[in-house]
Amino acid sequence: MNKNILKKLSYGMYIISSKEDNLLVGCVANSVMQINSDTVAISLNNNNYTTKVILENNLFAINILPTNTSIDLIKTFGFKKSNEINKYENINYELKEDTPIISDTCGYIICTLANSIKTDTHTIIIGKIISMQETNDYEAMTYKYYQENLKGTTSKNAPTYQEETTKTKKNVFVCKICGFRYETDLDELPADFKCPMCGVGKEYFEKL
Ligand SMILES: Cc1cc2nc3c(=O)[nH]c(=O)nc-3n(C[C@H](O)[C@H](O)[C@H](O)COP(=O)(O)O)c2cc1C
Repeated sequence: MNKNILKKLSYGMYIISSKEDNLLVGCVANSVMQINSDTVAISLNNNNYTTKVILENNLFAINILPTNTSIDLIKTFGFKKSNEINKYENINYELKEDTPIISDTCGYIICTLANSIKTDTHTIIIGKIISMQETNDYEAMTYKYYQENLKGTTSKNAPTYQEETTKTKKNVFVCKICGFRYETDLDELPADFKCPMCGVGKEYFEKL
């Protein structure tokens, strides 16, 4: 089976936000779809902290990212864990329906959890919309735009992540945390090597 055809599926770019007591959580997701005019679905990895919080607290928001989103915001929400760092420390947001809404996006959709379907790797979160608003007339960012213009990579936890086979004779090292691929002529990574996307050291890299 050639998995390349899956790359022809289209996606957007979103931050899924939620709240656990006083802890604000959230993660980047490309896999949001509208089911009907008051229902949406998202595929969230079973290991994401945000998934656990949504399943326990039954409330979340979809923040629709515009094309002018900074790559730093995506690195924070797309590669780090909400239970390890405060992802909201340096960004503007406000609480609506007790859910963090990120400022300066295209807008938001707030949902209660209507249902969930767990697979081996991801849980399909089905949300019933309780509030939504277009906050800016920005162009929404597509996943293709993110890859082509921000030169962004995909986290290992995203449904669209694929381990690619190498076509060169270079050595390929893959970050076990975020999926970043590093191609080099070297047989070993230098001792002080750090992942340019998520910052972890060489011990987190696996040679393909
Ligand atoms: C471009 C991009 C798309 C992503 N799409 C998804 C997605 O659709 N579903 C998902 O579960 N994780 C997705 N991720 C990965 C999560 O954002 C990432 O694992 C995050 O660190 C989880 O944070 P948390 O543990 O605080 O919830 C994506 C990451 C990136 C960079």
